[in-house]
Amino acid sequence: MEYFIKDIGLAREGKNKILWAGKEMPVLNILKETQSKNLFSEIKIGACLHVTSETANLVIALSECGAKVFLTASNPLSTQDEVAACLVKDYGIPVFAKKGESSSEYNDSVKFIAEQKPDIVIDDGADLIAYLHQNLSLSKNLLGATEETTTGITRIKSLEKEGKLAFPVIAVNDAMTKHLFDNRYGTGQSTVDGILRATNILIAGKNAVVCGYGWCGKGISKNFRGLGAKVIVIEVDPVKALEAVMDGFYVTTIEKAAEFGDIFVTSTGNKDVLSANVLSKIKDGAIIANSGHFNVEIDVDYLEKNSREKNSIRPMVTEYVLKNNRKVYLLAEGRLVNLGCAEGHPSSVMDLSFSNQFMASKYLKENKGLAPKLYSVPEEIDKKIAEFKLKSLNIEIDTLTVQQTEYLSSWKL
Ligand SMILES: NC(=O)c1ccc[n+]([C@@H]2O[C@H](COP(=O)([O-])OP(=O)(O)OC[C@H]3O[C@@H](n4cnc5c(N)ncnc54)[C@H](O)[C@@H]3O)[C@@H](O)[C@H]2O)c1
Repeated sequence: MEYFIKDIGLAREGKNKILWAGKEMPVLNILKETQSKNLFSEIKIGACLHVTSETANLVIALSECGAKVFLTASNPLSTQDEVAACLVKDYGIPVFAKKGESSSEYNDSVKFIAEQKPDIVIDDGADLIAYLHQNLSLSKNLLGATEETTTGITRIKSLEKEGKLAFPVIAVNDAMTKHLFDNRYGTGQSTVDGILRATNILIAGKNAVVCGYGWCGKGISKNFRGLGAKVIVIEVDPVKALEAVMDGFYVTTIEKAAEFGDIFVTSTGNKDVLSANVLSKIKDGAIIANSGHFNVEIDVDYLEKNSREKNSIRPMVTEYVLKNNRKVYLLAEGRLVNLGCAEGHPSSVMDLSFSNQFMASKYLKENKGLAPKLYSVPEEIDKKIAEFKLKSLNIEIDTLTVQQTEYLSSWKL
């Protein structure tokens, strides 16, 4: 298969981006420097991740520790072409991705990576894992896989429930040092960043509707509030809805919010959140965006079929003039807005997520023969990553005394 990125001249720009990101990734750098250079020797890693400067730092770390890495994108819009060019030219890492690739190019690349019969798979959204399950002969060398995001974990849990999970998978998303920081602070900031870069609108005073008050939704709501928006939260889980109320947000139904929201962001991992019914009632001039993993949260098909006009207003901003004459502005085609319109999460937060990916891959390499199950990241890895991060920030914390440890482990007062 040929590389998509032919303009190798882009590589210098990519190199600067990769080095800039690497400065903010001290934990991954410590791991790279302290692990054996043969840690992954003779290990083929198939990675399906957003091709960003942070991912570049992860795949470089893996390859400097001996792995042969093949990289493809986990979303057709998220690739940073200059980063892909640099990985190919300067690091000899094969990358099969380009920004704006078609769905068939995307699927062909996932298939190609699977056909390399990797020993370890690093996935984001479980497309590569799902493909391997449909073509099980390709997974015969597989020690296991790791999964980066909530939606990927949901898919793997459903495979496991049906008794069809064919190899071990480590739920990197569920590590504390992943979702508490990446989903909340990373998605929170980069989603609002994507909306700002695409539209340059003033957030202060706007009604910002956030659908889903999970880890991502909490971060997005907090960031909107920080910029002066009136934040409205939409939930289906009563506990999360109550949490949003007590966090000081206005909670209502999507049907009611449709009438007065200025900006709508979905981050639920569910489909049809901005459904045909909601879109038919949405306020004139509303800006709509998705930050959930797949482009299923907004019914883009409805917009396509029920608009009199469709105009490209700015890069990644599409104006739909609905048959009822209302205008709706869709960002990044309904795909991940933080990666389509901005650069994804800040490097400092990806440092934590990708250190988990690095250590989870090491765990798979060192624990061959695990049963086909979904595994948590071992607690000691989670703690170690937090310790390294605190150290890099020059932050000291206390330790328990012997008496305190005994007290906490005893039932006696
Ligand atoms: N944009 C990014 O870079 C990025 C980063 C991390 C995760 N994600 C993705 O974002 C999505 C959310 O992840 P999370 O970690 O916050 O998940 P989560 O499970 O913590 O939260 C999702 C929330 O959405 C709610 N929900 C489900 N259906 C709903 C509906 N119809 N209306 C309103 N609320 C609904 C659930 O009750 C839940 O509270 C997933 O698809 C995940 O893969 C994206």
